[in-house]
Amino acid sequence: MSATYRTHTCGQLRRDHVGQTVLLQGWVHRVRDLGGVTFFDLRDRHGLTQVVVRADGDTLTAAKLRPEAVVAVHGVVEARGAAVVNSKIPTGEVEVVATRLEILNEARTPPFPINEDVSVAEETRLRYRYLDLRRPALQHNLIVRHKVSIAARQYFDQEGFLEIETPILTRSTPEGARDYLVPSRVHRGEFFALPQSPQIFKQILMIAGMDRYFQICRCFRDEDLRADRQPEFTQIDVEVSFATEEVIYGVVEGAVQAMWAAAGHTVTAPFERITYADAMRLYGSDKPDLRPGMPIADVSDLFRESPFGVFRDSVDAGGVVRGFVVAGGAASSRRELDDLVVQAKALGATGLVWVRLVGDVIQSSALKIAGEETLRAAFVEAGGCEGDLLLLAAGATDATASQLGTLRLAVARTRGLLDPNDFRFVWVTGFPMFEWNADEVRWDSMHHPFTSPMPDDEPYLESDPGRVRARAYDLALNGSEIAGGSIRIHRPHVQRHIFRLLGISDEQAAARFGFFLEALEYGTPPHGGIAFGLDRVVALLCHEPSIREVMAFPKTAQAVDLMSGAPSDVDERQLRELHIQGVARP
Ligand code: AMO
Repeated sequence: MSATYRTHTCGQLRRDHVGQTVLLQGWVHRVRDLGGVTFFDLRDRHGLTQVVVRADGDTLTAAKLRPEAVVAVHGVVEARGAAVVNSKIPTGEVEVVATRLEILNEARTPPFPINEDVSVAEETRLRYRYLDLRRPALQHNLIVRHKVSIAARQYFDQEGFLEIETPILTRSTPEGARDYLVPSRVHRGEFFALPQSPQIFKQILMIAGMDRYFQICRCFRDEDLRADRQPEFTQIDVEVSFATEEVIYGVVEGAVQAMWAAAGHTVTAPFERITYADAMRLYGSDKPDLRPGMPIADVSDLFRESPFGVFRDSVDAGGVVRGFVVAGGAASSRRELDDLVVQAKALGATGLVWVRLVGDVIQSSALKIAGEETLRAAFVEAGGCEGDLLLLAAGATDATASQLGTLRLAVARTRGLLDPNDFRFVWVTGFPMFEWNADEVRWDSMHHPFTSPMPDDEPYLESDPGRVRARAYDLALNGSEIAGGSIRIHRPHVQRHIFRLLGISDEQAAARFGFFLEALEYGTPPHGGIAFGLDRVVALLCHEPSIREVMAFPKTAQAVDLMSGAPSDVDERQLRELHIQGVARP
C-alpha cells in the first residue's frame, strides 16, 4: 500500500512537467490494451491523465486493471508525440509512463458506465448516487454550486451582513406547505417542526437589532414535488432593517452579479420590473420568461359584435380573446398548426384560432366564421407583420392567460428562442395580498402572513381583500421564480388584523405566534427581506432542467432517498421512547 500522498491531481500535468517523477492516485477510467503496451486514463475530479505501461513496465498489474478500480501510479511525465496530442483535455500534451502501479482497491462492475455519456434511468442514478457523482457533468454542477455559495457569502459579508444560524428544530413557520414534524422524546405528545423557512427568526433578529442578516440555510416543505421543488432545499435568506423595496432590489441585484460572476457571466443591473397584473396579462405567468418576446395581446373588443359565437360569447361572459404573434410563423405547415391546436386543447382551451398574413392575404382557421376584416384587425393590433402567425384563444380571463402563457413557451422552445445563456431577470411587483381558497372558503396569503399591504390599499382590507396589493416582490429568471420576499408588517396590531383576515382567531394567533406577536411589541424596526432558492439559481446557471441535477443527494418525486432508503421504518423501542403507538405500515 502506498503511504504517500499524490504529487499532482489527474488534471494538473502539462508540458512543463515533462521529465518529472510523479505519483497520481485516482480511478481507472478506461483501459486500452494494445498488445504489450497498456494505455489507461486515470481520473479524479480534477481531470484525466493518460498513463502508459510499456512492455518493460508493470504489465502484470496492468493486466488486472478494471474500470473504477482505485490505483496509484508512480511514473515519469513524457511529452506525447504531435500526432497523439489530445487537444480535448488540458493534460492532453503529456502522458505518465508508469514505473510502478498499485491497485489500492478493486471495484465491482458499476451498474452503468462512468466513462461514457450514456443516458441512465434516474432511479438507477439516484440509487448509486456515489457513482453518478463521479461523472464530470454532476461534478461540474457541484463545483458551480460551491462557487456560487462562496460568492454569495463573500458578497453579503462585504455588504455588512451577518450570517446567523437559526434553529432546525423549531415551531411551524407557515410558507404554504405542510410541515415535517419531529416528535419530542422528553415532552410526550409534543413535536418540533422543521422550518419551511427561517422567516419568523429572521424577523426576530431584526427586532434584536442585527440589522443586516443572511444565512445559507436548509428549508423543509412537505409538498408535491416537481422538477424545481424538493422537500429539503437551500435558501439564501436575507433580511434588512429599515429597508424599502429599493434597498432590497439593490442588495439582491448586487448578489446576483456576484453569483453570476462566479459562474463566469456578466449581469447588468438594474433589472427590468413588471407588475403582477401586467405579467399575467402579457405573459400569462407570474414568473415571465422574457427571452422570446411574444407578448400576449388582448383583442377582446374586436370580437364583441363578432358573428364568431365562441369568441363573442367569451367576451359577453366577461372573458377575453387574446393571442400572441409568432414572428415568421406564417411558414408553419398545416401539421404544425394542427399540433398547436391539439396542444391548446390539452391545456384546457376550447380551441385555438390561427391567423397569418401571406403577402397581403389573411389566412385563418376561422376565416369564414370570423370574417377577414376582424381577423386582419386582430392581427395588426397584436403586432403582426407579413409572414407572421397569430394564435388566438378565448375564454375566462385567468384560464386563457395561463393557457396562452404555456403555449407561448412551448412555441418559443420549438423555435429555439430560449437561449439558456440569455439571463433575463425581472422583478415582479404588486402581487395581490390574498388569494381566495375556494376549498376552505377563506382568503390565504399569497406570499406569507407577515407581508405588509400596500399603504394605498389598506382601506380595502376589510371591504375588498381581493383588491389589496402586497409589498411583495419576486425575482423571476427565464420563467423560474428564483427569489421571493416582501416588506414586512412591523406593527403588532396590523399583524393581528392580517391574521384575523386570514381566518386565524386571536386565540389561535396567540397559541401559534404569541412569542412573535409579543416580540413585535418591543420596538420593531420597519424591515423587509427576501430569499433566493439556491438550487434553482444553480440549475439555471448549469442549464439543468431539474434542481435534482445540482444537489448532491436529492430525493425522488416521491420524496424518497433511493440511496439510503429514507424514509424507513424504525424499531419498536424507538417508537415507544417517542410515545408513538400503532403506526403500522400499509
Ligand atoms: P418562498 O416560499 O417564496 O419565500 O421561497 C423563496 C425561494 O425559495 C425557493 N423555493 C424552493 N426551491 C426548491 N424547492 C422548494 N420546495 C422550494 N420552495 C421555495 C424558490 C423561492 O423563490 N420566507 C420567504 C422569503 C421572504 O419572504 O423573505 C420564503 O420562504 O426559489
